[in-house]
Amino acid sequence: MKYDIVVIGSGISGMRAAIEAKELGANVALITKGSPTANNSFMAKGGINAAFGNMKDKDSIHEHTFETYKSSVGIGNKESIRIFCEQAPAAVRELSEYGVNFNKLENGKIAQRSFGGSIYKRTVYAADDTGPAIMKTLHKVIKEYEIDILKNFMAINLITKNGIISGVTLFDEVSKKVLVCEAKSMILASGGFASLYKNYTSNVRDATGDGLAMGLRAGLEAMNLEFVQFHPTGLQGSNFLLSEAARGEGGKLVDKDGNSFVDELNTRDFVTRAIYKKLNAHEQVYLDLTHIPQEVLDTKLIGIKKRVKTLKKLDVAKDFIPISPIAHYTMGGIKTDTIGRTSIEGLFVVGEAGDNGVNGANRLGGNSLSQGAVFGKIAAYQAIKFANRVKKFNGVDYYEIMNDINYIEELKSQAKTVNVNEIKTQIGEILFRNLGIIRDAEHMKQALQAFCEIEEKIKTSNEGETTTIKSMLELKNTLLVAKAIALSALQREESRGAHFRLDFPEKDHKFKKDTVITISDLN
Ligand code: FUM
Repeated sequence: MKYDIVVIGSGISGMRAAIEAKELGANVALITKGSPTANNSFMAKGGINAAFGNMKDKDSIHEHTFETYKSSVGIGNKESIRIFCEQAPAAVRELSEYGVNFNKLENGKIAQRSFGGSIYKRTVYAADDTGPAIMKTLHKVIKEYEIDILKNFMAINLITKNGIISGVTLFDEVSKKVLVCEAKSMILASGGFASLYKNYTSNVRDATGDGLAMGLRAGLEAMNLEFVQFHPTGLQGSNFLLSEAARGEGGKLVDKDGNSFVDELNTRDFVTRAIYKKLNAHEQVYLDLTHIPQEVLDTKLIGIKKRVKTLKKLDVAKDFIPISPIAHYTMGGIKTDTIGRTSIEGLFVVGEAGDNGVNGANRLGGNSLSQGAVFGKIAAYQAIKFANRVKKFNGVDYYEIMNDINYIEELKSQAKTVNVNEIKTQIGEILFRNLGIIRDAEHMKQALQAFCEIEEKIKTSNEGETTTIKSMLELKNTLLVAKAIALSALQREESRGAHFRLDFPEKDHKFKKDTVITISDLN
């Protein structure tokens, strides 16, 4: 297979990039390991930020820039943030032009709601189902444009030659073969790794950091992996996200007596820690929507109302909703420049898979979908520029492909003796307990040690049930990424944003910088 531009990942960054590349005349393929609708962009229900200033509070691009940087706790990249905030309004307007039906004001302008970390109503929404509204529209456009979607193709490794991208090896789940997809230029938009926190995450199962693992193996640097964002309001005992929309529409966070204990619209790191402190002291914490007008519950929060009824048999108009924070988003990723370029020429990384510094230590709620739309489009433009410049395919060294064919053969035999589900649950538990909301060196070292032991055990395991090659590839990536999180977190001997250490509880100017690791740190 050969394409001008190959996009890996079908979330908002990937789809937006593929659409842009097609509009600019490229021959494009969109590769996804699952179905194009199984991704985290679908899970971002509450909204998408753009400083239109449509509401009375008169938000502005300047305020969006200021609050995004403030939320990053001093390590956000100011240039990435400037590009993002300036381009977000146009990016959201384009989504509306593609057909996304955002809520409107009476004057016909796009409506905006409050979200955490901002004093302005900036978040554009489609009730409490914004991610699905956007993604269904983009998927429709992808189909109309007849962009090739390669479903159920799991990317194994990036192929490079002389520091330039050549393509990617893929495991085809149908034929069970290793294939090569060549590209003049490639956009990696394969998402983050918060699903590694299995049983403590809002993420879809597929978010296993495969792009990050591939990038590391290809020699790229990864940065700021310690910053894992826990969303304050998971529905307790489930992976269902009670969207920030609920607090944006006036929902309160309360204790069992209905007393407020935190500013619910502060930044996520702050609110999450306040909730965690209570839960740790065995005090129950709730989202209270009982004072919200029925009409708002029935129109703007209808998804939450229905799911809470189904999952907990609670009536949000009368009952408090028990909550606990869940892993939701990963700020770190493959290190890129402000517009997604990497040190492999022709390879761009966008969305949660990469880190251009736009989120620093803590992402502002509502910024992720607009980042996908802004930087996905920019990456497509850059990728085409690169493809037009090089003109020819870079070529593939088939000895390298043999390595991946042999690797898959090795995994085929391991797949009969490893209980993937059990191991992933174990990894999730270790991550949550030791690299969760609160950390310290001792626990992080224990976690690192445990991941190394699991890696060794897999090699000699002789129990378990037959699993798929895709699961085995994910498990290998998961372990690499889990070790990388622990190592990055150990490097940062301070507390900042989503990374809070009991042994270093203060911010330290010495660490007002990015942590960086490479594959050599992990072997
Ligand atoms: O709460 C939410 O709806 C999540 C949005 C986000 O992470 O940006």
